Amino acid sequence: MAMVMPLFLIFLLHITSATSPDLRPGFYSKTCPQSEIIVRDVMKKALAREARSVASVMRLQFHDCFVNGCDGSVLLDDTPTMLGEKLSLSNINSLRSFEVVDQVKEALEKACPGVVSCADIIIMASRDAVALTGGPDWEVRLGRLDSLSASQEDSDDIMPSPRANASYLIDLFQKFNLTVKDLVALSGSHSIGQGRCFSIMFRLYNQSGTGRPDPAIDPTYREELNRLCPLDVDQNVTGNLDSTPVVFDNQYFKDLVAGRGFLNSDQTLFTFPQTREFVRLFSKHQNEFFKAFAEGMVKMGDLQSGRPGEVRTNCRVVNARPVHLLLEYPDKMENNVEYM
Ligand code: HEM
Ligand SMILES: *[C@@H]1O[C@H](CO)[C@@H](O)[C@H](O)[C@H]1NC(C)=O
Ligand SMILES: *[C@@H]1O[C@H](CO)[C@@H](O)[C@H](O)[C@H]1NC(C)=O
Ligand SMILES: *[C@@H]1O[C@H](CO)[C@@H](O)[C@H](O)[C@H]1NC(C)=O
Ligand SMILES: *[C@@H]1O[C@H](CO)[C@@H](O)[C@H](O)[C@H]1NC(C)=O
Repeated sequence: MAMVMPLFLIFLLHITSATSPDLRPGFYSKTCPQSEIIVRDVMKKALAREARSVASVMRLQFHDCFVNGCDGSVLLDDTPTMLGEKLSLSNINSLRSFEVVDQVKEALEKACPGVVSCADIIIMASRDAVALTGGPDWEVRLGRLDSLSASQEDSDDIMPSPRANASYLIDLFQKFNLTVKDLVALSGSHSIGQGRCFSIMFRLYNQSGTGRPDPAIDPTYREELNRLCPLDVDQNVTGNLDSTPVVFDNQYFKDLVAGRGFLNSDQTLFTFPQTREFVRLFSKHQNEFFKAFAEGMVKMGDLQSGRPGEVRTNCRVVNARPVHLLLEYPDKMENNVEYM
């Protein structure tokens, strides 16, 4: 027992040092100088293979960072003892292109094994998705650790529904210290990618239980959406989130001004006075949008849980950790304490 106590303390200290690392540009400049080039290269190939895939990867930053910080938790597969985030309400049948993250990880593990976290991969790859599709490019802060678990319940509680209105979204983003301007700019991520009929059926046919469509939808656009998503449609059918879905530009905001937003959560940004002026601004000035978007992504990327972490070797599973073994055989702990 006298043996166990001091070792347990070492264990705690180690965890503390692995908590809340300071994020900074160039974090891997010594340990993996090619990391950012490698990520961008894999993303370029993904874009060439399937344009939508880079949008799908970029979405992962939002779904990762809002749920207990940017810690790669969204990438973890379920296990017999852990319900992860992949099957949460917002993510099931919806988040995709995890294989692109796997490809990035594989390339990085080849170049610099065990160095670059999956959480940082999401941050770099999201930036690259935007830069490669015509949007702004920016410097990312790196040095995140990967979580040791994931929580379906937390994802269910936090991630917003496509039905959300602007006032709900303002409050939600405020909880993450993100401003109204950040909310509107970050929603501009929907300048690329697609959504399912599942996400808009209610607004086409029964907005707020009225039995009527959302009155904010432009009538011509509503006809288009009705053709895409008739009442008996396979709700996995997808439509474009804006009218230029493989180009990152401010067309999304022009579409909102014209009543041609795909999701209720998009169109509501023009309906509500608190957000409308930012939609107008970004619809007129693409440079203002790009600047606010990059700032919002960096702020969102700074969200951290402060929990202990690691650098996963496979983004889908936590590293094998001989914890149980160590607790049963404390005399072996000293040798293995680096694992913690
Ligand atoms: C403001 C609140 C937001 C809501 C309510 C929301 C909701 C949604 C929904 C419902 C979809 C379509 C999912 C489907 O039908 O399967 C979607 C797609 C997407 N979202 Fe968001 N989102 C929000 C903010 C964001 C943010 C902040 C980002 C990234 C910075 C983002 C990036 C994306 C992307 C890129 C897609 C297309 C993905 C693809 O094509 O696979 N979203 N979002
Ligand atoms: C916005 O949505 C919230 C939550 O669903 C609801 O309680 C609120 O009444 C809505 N606000 C307006 C002004 O429609
Ligand atoms: C928001 O900012 C406050 C004050 O700086 C800080 O205490 C809080 O932890 C921040 N919240 C998040 C989610 O980062
Ligand atoms: C519309 O929604 C309301 C409230 O959710 C529900 O009671 C009603 O049955 C729905 N109508 C149709 C046609 O689905
Ligand atoms: C979408 O497809 C999945 C299988 O890929 C299926 O389980 C699910 O029920 C479908 N969702 C809808 C809304 O039709």
